[in-house]
Amino acid sequence: MTLTRLSLTDFRNHAGADMAATSGLVALHGDNGAGKTNILEAISLLAPGRGLRRAALLDMVRDGAAGGFAIFAEVQAGSDLAPVALGTGIEAAHPGRRIVRINGAPAAATALGEWLAVLWLTPAMDRLFVETAGNRRRFLDRLVLALDPRHAQHSNRYEAALRARGKLLADLASADAQWLASLEVQLAEHGAAMDAARQQALAALSAELAGQPDAPFARPLLTLVDSEGAPREAPYDAEALKMLFASRRRIDAAAGRATAGPHRDDLNAVHAATGRSAARCSTGEQKAMLLSLVLAHSDCVARLRGARPVLLLDEVAAHLDPLRRGALYERLAGQGGQAWLTGTEAALFDAMPGPVTRFHVAGGRISAG
Ligand SMILES: Nc1ncnc2c1ncn2[C@@H]1O[C@H](COP(=O)(O)OP(=O)(O)O)[C@@H](O)[C@H]1O
Ligand SMILES: [Mg+2]
Repeated sequence: MTLTRLSLTDFRNHAGADMAATSGLVALHGDNGAGKTNILEAISLLAPGRGLRRAALLDMVRDGAAGGFAIFAEVQAGSDLAPVALGTGIEAAHPGRRIVRINGAPAAATALGEWLAVLWLTPAMDRLFVETAGNRRRFLDRLVLALDPRHAQHSNRYEAALRARGKLLADLASADAQWLASLEVQLAEHGAAMDAARQQALAALSAELAGQPDAPFARPLLTLVDSEGAPREAPYDAEALKMLFASRRRIDAAAGRATAGPHRDDLNAVHAATGRSAARCSTGEQKAMLLSLVLAHSDCVARLRGARPVLLLDEVAAHLDPLRRGALYERLAGQGGQAWLTGTEAALFDAMPGPVTRFHVAGGRISAG
């Protein structure tokens, strides 16, 4: 998949920006604070979810702008397909509501995943393997979404049912039993679908990783684990999941949250070459594992969906030695996909094999070169 055009209106520090790109590598260089990550964030909002900073929509409106913000892109999903126009933003009158348009028609944000798969690595993710499970789960779900666009809808409906059940459980004595049971049916159905998609995605990704070398990027072994860290074996069956929720009403009411279910699962990673848990590896090894994971995932999506996800690699190049940087560029170039990379030095991108689209970003202004 390729973004052939990206335009931003009043998004963060970009008042009005219009960029044309081709498939292959896109290099954004400019000083700290120039607006490079903001461009990647804009692209990340062309997928379901809250984008790579998980920021509030209002924070994204340019300071001093009169209205909302708009992001527009033209996406080429395959050489034999017509380009699709994706747009998102907010209007001043409804600042809390994200508007999505696909080929000009209003659409749900979850529908974006049908047209564009986006994956990112940012400096904030360097500690993904030692952080709370929530961030890893979101990362896992983004990997899954790129392989199975229906995952966004199942996740949203599951989360909505979970919140509604939580409200009922807050006053369990007077809760409507029928409504509670129907919410648990929804939790069971969407939870089982979510879990199946995660398990299938991890199986496909693990098979892809198994065929990849340990060098120059450290290969991880991935498993889905429960909240105790124990491997999740058989997929959740909807009926069993329904019973699980029904049996835990009192426990969940007392805890003030749903204490069991697929929303508590976690992604476990082990450094394949040493057998060490990712959380205990060096920061460099952890970064290398994330990179190798994302590259294998791109191969996996290409194999199963016929097109590569767009990759957003924020400040990734600067932290690699020249050999690994060269290897990364080789992997990203010439595969028909598109990868957007940022860095403060233009020279970081000198060794990129073509075709390369280069932009200089300075104070929210973007110029070619
Ligand atoms: N809503 C906003 N309006 C105007 N500027 C913003 C807004 N949000 C963030 N910024 C500015 O954007 C700049 C950071 O841009 P960023 O893309 O992170 O820079 P970098 O090029 O280092 O990646 C900062 O100067 C920040 O103050
Ligand atoms: Mg940045």
